Amino acid sequence: MNARFEPSGPLRGTASVPADKSISHRAALIGAMASEPVRIRNYLDAADTRSTLAAVQRLGAIVEERGQELVVRGCGLRGAFAPRQAIDVGNAGTLMRLLPGWLSFQQGLSFMLDGDDSIRRRPIDRIADPLQRMGARIEAREGRYPPFTVHGAALQGIDYELPVASAQVKSCVLLAGLVTDRTTVTEPVPSRDHTERMLAAAGAPVERAGDRTAGYRTAVGHADQLGLPVVEIPGDISSAAFLIAAGVLVPGSRLVLERVGVNWTRTGFLRILNRMGAIVLTDAEPPGSFAAHEPVADIDVRSAPIEATAVEAEEVPLAIDELPLVALLGCFAEGETLVRGAGELRVKESDRIATVVEGLRGLGADIEALPDGFVVKGTGGLRGGTFDAHGDHRLALLGAVAGLACETGVEVAGMEAAEVSYPRFADDVRQLVS
Ligand code: S3P
Repeated sequence: MNARFEPSGPLRGTASVPADKSISHRAALIGAMASEPVRIRNYLDAADTRSTLAAVQRLGAIVEERGQELVVRGCGLRGAFAPRQAIDVGNAGTLMRLLPGWLSFQQGLSFMLDGDDSIRRRPIDRIADPLQRMGARIEAREGRYPPFTVHGAALQGIDYELPVASAQVKSCVLLAGLVTDRTTVTEPVPSRDHTERMLAAAGAPVERAGDRTAGYRTAVGHADQLGLPVVEIPGDISSAAFLIAAGVLVPGSRLVLERVGVNWTRTGFLRILNRMGAIVLTDAEPPGSFAAHEPVADIDVRSAPIEATAVEAEEVPLAIDELPLVALLGCFAEGETLVRGAGELRVKESDRIATVVEGLRGLGADIEALPDGFVVKGTGGLRGGTFDAHGDHRLALLGAVAGLACETGVEVAGMEAAEVSYPRFADDVRQLVS
């Protein structure tokens, strides 16, 4: 589906963004592993998180909609059923990489996972390696791609050093670690910590330690059972980021986004924007915090002229899904914006270095790809044109924001990809512009 986004008048007013996708996936999965019913408020209604609900139901959990809440009646840690056919993860990388952590200790059972064309290009050896070291067996197409099968086994604890910071891989190992005496995961730089927070809230023994030299270490110990109080999902900062960028770039804008999750492992984009000189006010959580709950705040954005900045490896996991927007902002900023140490972008829903560079160039940007990032020369704005989403939700939304801020508008090819995380983006923009 093609959708046209015309240069916009100021965005003004208050909006609430869709619920956090990462936290929604985790609430459904940990709910399915729990022994008591778990009530979830504000679960994300989008394609990715529907895939997770469908998956846990196939594994034996019961999901009921009760007014504004979802109630997940789980299987308990060791009580998953093995469906005869493959579990379809759709487009959801987080589901594909977290779920095997639970499945890996369903002793004697085997589970096949498969997904869409984009999922079939995304590597799973990064989770297969630690899970096999723990004792599970994984068979994958060409050794590293879906479809793949997880054969559950008795697991032993490991100390795992992640080659690249990845919340998905860390989470997978921590979930598997729940049946071991102790399992630790060390990351070179911190990544989002929603799993740790939710496991701590669910009664699992979780510890966190470390620093830049030692690496950041998370340990989990044996849990007999999990039980969660009501989970209230905050707004998704990664979805909010598209409206924030539009608000910064479209002159005269002033908008407030209500009840957005501001866990510091997710707010790298706000820190980058502040360095660029944008005016974004929030009481985001201070860096380094760790609590069992997810902090929430309103984000207040005004348009402003912006300057170039550099984003280096240490900041990358804290803003990984917002880096395409940094490229767009770079086109409007004074100077040269650089993103490095972000090779992970190449294995997202699309190769986001290639697709962002190609897409923005087509709109008139002066942007070069690097093996692990990109460099953008600010040219005071963008012309406009057509922009291919390549089946990637964050690309579709990027093209839409570019359309609002450029000179002649943008025709986004494949706008339906936005269904994965932010189905009502165009409606939210319309409401803020009118
Ligand atoms: C996610 C982690 C990130 C992110 C993805 C969601 C998560 O991936 O890009 O959109 O929910 O854990 P990596 O952990 O692979 O960097």
